[in-house]
This record gives sequence, C-alpha cells and structure tokens, in this order.
Amino acid sequence: MRQATARVISNNEIMPRVYLVWLNSPPIASQAQPGQFVMVRCGEGLEYQLRRPLSIHQLDGNEIALLFTVVGKGTRWLSQCQAGDNLDLLGPLGNGYSIHSGSHNLLLVAGGIGIAPLVFLAQQALNQGCSVTLLSGTPTTTQLYPEYLLPPEVKLVTATEDGTAGRKGMITNLLPDFMGWADQIFACGPISMYQTIAARKQHLLKGKPTQVSLEVRMGCGRGVCYGCTVKTKRGLRQVCKDGPVFDLDDILWDELADGGV
Ligand SMILES: Cc1cc2nc3c(=O)[nH]c(=O)nc-3n(C[C@H](O)[C@H](O)[C@H](O)COP(=O)(O)OP(=O)(O)OC[C@H]3O[C@@H](n4cnc5c(N)ncnc54)[C@H](O)[C@@H]3O)c2cc1C
Ligand code: FES
Repeated sequence: MRQATARVISNNEIMPRVYLVWLNSPPIASQAQPGQFVMVRCGEGLEYQLRRPLSIHQLDGNEIALLFTVVGKGTRWLSQCQAGDNLDLLGPLGNGYSIHSGSHNLLLVAGGIGIAPLVFLAQQALNQGCSVTLLSGTPTTTQLYPEYLLPPEVKLVTATEDGTAGRKGMITNLLPDFMGWADQIFACGPISMYQTIAARKQHLLKGKPTQVSLEVRMGCGRGVCYGCTVKTKRGLRQVCKDGPVFDLDDILWDELADGGV
C-alpha cells in the first residue's frame, strides 16, 4: 500500500452521473489486483480530510481506471477533475478476489455500479484462460454499463427492473440458469442483493463457491479507525483490511445495513 500522486488522463461521464476516470499511477498499477480499491482524497482543505474508497475498475500498463457514481460532495468534486490534474491516492488496499485453481467458468454478478471491480476481474480471468459470463442488472437501461467498454470475450447478460433492456426483473433471478455452467461466482452490488442471494442460497447458487465485495462506509481505509467493522462467522472483521472481498457464507447478513451504493 502506498500514497501516490496520480495524474488524470481523462475523465468522462459515460452514463448519467457515472464517470470513468483514467489515471497514470505506476506504483499503484504495478501492484493492483482485482477487487482491491484505492482511497482518493476528493478535494482540498479540512472538510476533505476523509478519503473516498473506489474500486480499481480497469488496468492498462501504468494506468488504472476508476468508475464512480456521483452521490455526494466527494464524488462531485472528483467528477470535475480534468486531464492534467493530480490526485492524491492511497492504495492498492484490501484483499481482492481469488480465482480457485480448478475454476474455468467464472460467473460475475453486478448490481448497478457494483460492476466497477468486476471488469478488472474479467480482464485478469480472461488473461488466465478462463471463460467469463457477466450478469449486469440495473433499475433501467440508461444505467447499464456500455458493452463496448468490456473485453470482447466477455459474455454479457443484462436485466433491468423496468424491462427497458435485457430480462425484466432483478439480476438475481437469472442466477439459476447459469449454475450448471459456473465453477465459481463473484459478485459486487448493494447489501440488499447479497441478502437476497444469501436467503435463497440453495435455490440460486446450488452450493457454488461465491465471493462478494462489501461496500460499507469507511473512515481511514487501512485498519486504524474500526469504522468499517462487520460481524462474520469468524468474529469481527474490518472490511478495509480483511476484505472488501469475503466468502458469501462468512458474513452474518442479517446484521448488516445496506450502504446504498
Ligand atoms: C471498498 C469500496 C469500494 C467502492 N467502490 C466504488 C466504486 O468503484 N464506484 C462507486 O461509485 N462507489 C464505490 N464505493 C462507494 C463510494 O466510496 C461512495 O459512494 C463514496 O465514498 C461517496 O462519497 P461522497 O463524498 O460523494 O458522498 P457522501 O457525501 O459521503 O455520501 C453521499 C451518500 O452516499 C452514501 N455513501 C457514502 N459512502 C459510502 C460507502 N462507502 N458505501 C456506501 N454508501 C456510501 C452515503 O450514505 C450517502 O447517502 C465503494 C465503497 C467501498 C467501501
Ligand atoms: S475504514 Fe478504518 S478500519 Fe476500516
């Protein structure tokens, strides 16, 4: 984990309120693993002391990309950064996803902006010779991640709650269709999506190993403040240090409130 200055290469609104920012940061790019995140100082002055956690979305040589929704002050500030600006980052942080040695067919499940870390995972999995299917679910069609930004080898299946694209309904409804194919499942989305999956685990997952990335509110991002503590079957764990990726079965889902991302 390092503190690094990253130069903004580009910053574009690719969907309403969703930005893709490419950053030049050799020290972070050289160590980044899918599922890890960076803490970004989003502004200057005392009111911006707290950094914001954002997943590493893509990697290309010395460059990393972040994908973020504008939800408050910090992400609004970040959305206004322009090519040539410098950002103060801490990272890469957290544990990241882990592909089991016997896994070949990987099912990635994205709820909304939860697609952010899964595109990097898809990149790495394809490089390792795995097959990747990505299920992407959003409330409506304008919030669906653009297919042209995905590696072409990824098989994309979409669902929207209002039926304006893909299958109508929640993305979790599609899970049983892929259980005959998938060796391992990787998910990122709101806590409510995980709670649905955990509650209907036998029906939806048929016992397949499943890793999830937790997005809870964070203070320091490096194990100091205990602001990100969650209850697991193995005791209390810090999402920033022990996670953000956990086995679905390890988390006590009834004890978690939805972070709302
Ligand atoms: C490990 C990790 C990875 C993340 N990766 C991404 C990502 O790749 N893309 C992305 O868009 N977002 C991601 N998030 C969520 C992101 O950190 C928050 O949206 C961001 O910190 C909000 O900052 P803000 O100053 O704009 O909003 P604030 O003014 O701080 O808050 C605005 C609203 O966002 C909610 N919020 C704030 N922080 C979080 C949080 N950490 N989790 C859930 N809800 C929050 C608040 O409850 C409030 O409703 C991630 C969070 C974690 C913990
Ligand atoms: S955010 Fe401070 S300990 Fe995890």
